[in-house]
Amino acid sequence: MNQAPIGRHIPGLPADRAALCVALDMKDPVRAADLLRGLSGHVDMAKVGMELFYAMGRAGWATVMEAGLPVFLDLKLHDIPHTVARAVESLLSLDPPPAIINVHAAGGPAMMRAAAEAVAGRCRVIAVTLLTALDAADLAAIGFDPSLTPRDLVLRLATLAREAGLDGVVCSPHEVAAIRTELGHDFLTIVPGIRPAGAAIGDQKRIATPETAQAAGADILVVGRPIVQAADPAMAARGIIENLKEAFT
Ligand code: C5P
Repeated sequence: MNQAPIGRHIPGLPADRAALCVALDMKDPVRAADLLRGLSGHVDMAKVGMELFYAMGRAGWATVMEAGLPVFLDLKLHDIPHTVARAVESLLSLDPPPAIINVHAAGGPAMMRAAAEAVAGRCRVIAVTLLTALDAADLAAIGFDPSLTPRDLVLRLATLAREAGLDGVVCSPHEVAAIRTELGHDFLTIVPGIRPAGAAIGDQKRIATPETAQAAGADILVVGRPIVQAADPAMAARGIIENLKEAFT
């Protein structure tokens, strides 16, 4: 499959493998910064989600950014186009600004276009398609056409995102190859649900090893607990990167 390196999209990210992004799923920015210091040289990016960002606000941002890593700010914006555009401007006024932000594709084409226009190339903006916590029964309950599978919906939302000018999507390891085939090589795929062989699966359902996700065409692998909860987080991250390098073709 496609294994074009992420370095082509975001300067500073590796040219010889998929990028490794650690998910900072915690509330305390000092703990997050300590973790990143310990991971220095062993991860390529950090993901700040709602839990940390809403707990720390702008004040904690500088603390987390001391590590000097590009940050994927995973706030999943979803509102009317005007409000999303203004929210994007607020996020881009963070110092330093995030490298990647995201919006829900279900917010519709006009909302996604408004986000892309507000970003104006200053960072990457990607779409969340379907939350992996939703199964076919949930989608039917919401009112989605039951003849469409979750995979059909993911591809449809990803296509809308690309048409609206977004740079990529968050997707499960099981959707990467289809997105690559349908949407081409320049559309970023950011992939959670990654578990190195032998790691605890936790609550994740649709998982893959880092090497399998990379081989399917994943650009950025998001890994939380297998690194954060490891006895030695740096060693866990280093192991993942060594395997990715070895497997990259
Ligand atoms: O600890 P773990 O590796 O499962 O963490 C994965 C990270 O990716 C978490 O921050 C989680 O919220 C996020 N994520 C996910 N599945 C999605 C979207 C985001 O696991 N569909």
